Amino acid sequence: MSKSALLVGCGSIGKKHFQEMLPKFDHIMVVDISTEALAWAQSEAQNAAPAAAPAAGESATGTAATISVAQTLDEAIAHVETNGPFDTATVANWGPDHVPTIRALQAVGQKNFVVEKPLSDSIADARDILAEVQRAGGKLFINLTRRYSGLPAGILAKAAEFNLGELQGVTVTGGARCIATNGIHYLDLATVLFGASPVSVTADLATQNINPRHESLAFYEGSVNYNYPGGKRFSCVFLNQSAVTENVRFYWRNAEGEMQPNGDFQLRLRNQSEIDTYPAVTRTGYAQDVAFSGNLWLTADGRTGMTALYDIVSNLDAAQGSAAETVGGRTAEDLLAALHASELGQRLTLPVDETQVDITKHWSIS
Ligand SMILES: NC(=O)c1ccc[n+]([C@@H]2O[C@H](COP(=O)([O-])OP(=O)(O)OC[C@H]3O[C@@H](n4cnc5c(N)ncnc54)[C@H](O)[C@@H]3O)[C@@H](O)[C@H]2O)c1
Repeated sequence: MSKSALLVGCGSIGKKHFQEMLPKFDHIMVVDISTEALAWAQSEAQNAAPAAAPAAGESATGTAATISVAQTLDEAIAHVETNGPFDTATVANWGPDHVPTIRALQAVGQKNFVVEKPLSDSIADARDILAEVQRAGGKLFINLTRRYSGLPAGILAKAAEFNLGELQGVTVTGGARCIATNGIHYLDLATVLFGASPVSVTADLATQNINPRHESLAFYEGSVNYNYPGGKRFSCVFLNQSAVTENVRFYWRNAEGEMQPNGDFQLRLRNQSEIDTYPAVTRTGYAQDVAFSGNLWLTADGRTGMTALYDIVSNLDAAQGSAAETVGGRTAEDLLAALHASELGQRLTLPVDETQVDITKHWSIS
């Protein structure tokens, strides 16, 4: 059966979505206000197309996807009205446009979506749009790629292999990386690793006029602290006056993991005889015995998180009749809750109580 996809926004991340779509869909429509972006999509598709029919016994390389391009969303809307919904629609324009784009497509019957982070710039919009997708029986996946990558399974497998017990905390420290833009990925990774959503958040944030996407967008530095069930914690500190890449640490009772943003991961254990001599948790010691060093970015079968995500969304028709589903929505909301917590100077329980917080407030994040 012929599979179709829509891509709205073919910028730096949209191009990666397009490359994931090319081998998996028969028809792709690309919408972007930039003619350069549209020309790129057409030439990328041409370059990927098989040069000639494969010889007997060989399988074709590349893709023969047909591409159509448009400069306005109206043309995609008309396409859905005439031809029915795309198997999936990816929304990769700027953050403040995500919800209006999903709504406009949903109004004409588009059901399934991949949406770039942040899903929305207000908690109310995040809640409303997820409920609307669910009511329509659709599926929505936020491109929080670390959850689809090899990281969660890889880290938990190492913890199991070395009998580390439960992961107790995740910390991230670094320079100007923006709590909203990049912090959300680590918040989501922590949530997946803990296997539970956070129960409260405190935050102390500030923004300066340094967002490389646009000066109207915030770029948050400061700290966010999330509490999870069982006393587990996720904390992130970013400093806008430092240009140093972040470092991520994972803490178990007697072991520490250290990760670079590219997925390079080192697991270090404490010395067992030291632990046996002084078992109290307050008798801390350095975790220096390297138990594992390697890159955990790819899944066990060698896929990136985005490839794994598109393996799911390109097979949604096979799952027809399955329940409506939204993935990553709580993380989108929990990130926005930190901005409210900082502004209010209060610890907020999660999910936020809308009688305490103005969930309709829009934040200039993307
Ligand atoms: N998941 C990730 O790892 C990741 C990485 C980078 C960016 N992002 C997110 O993806 C989104 C896009 O970021 P980017 O870096 O690709 O930005 P970008 O500026 O490179 O690309 C945005 C694209 O959208 C197009 N566009 C703008 N308005 C449009 C409209 N009304 N209709 C159609 N197209 C329109 C622009 O012409 C541009 O090509 C942001 O929300 C960002 O936070 C996510």
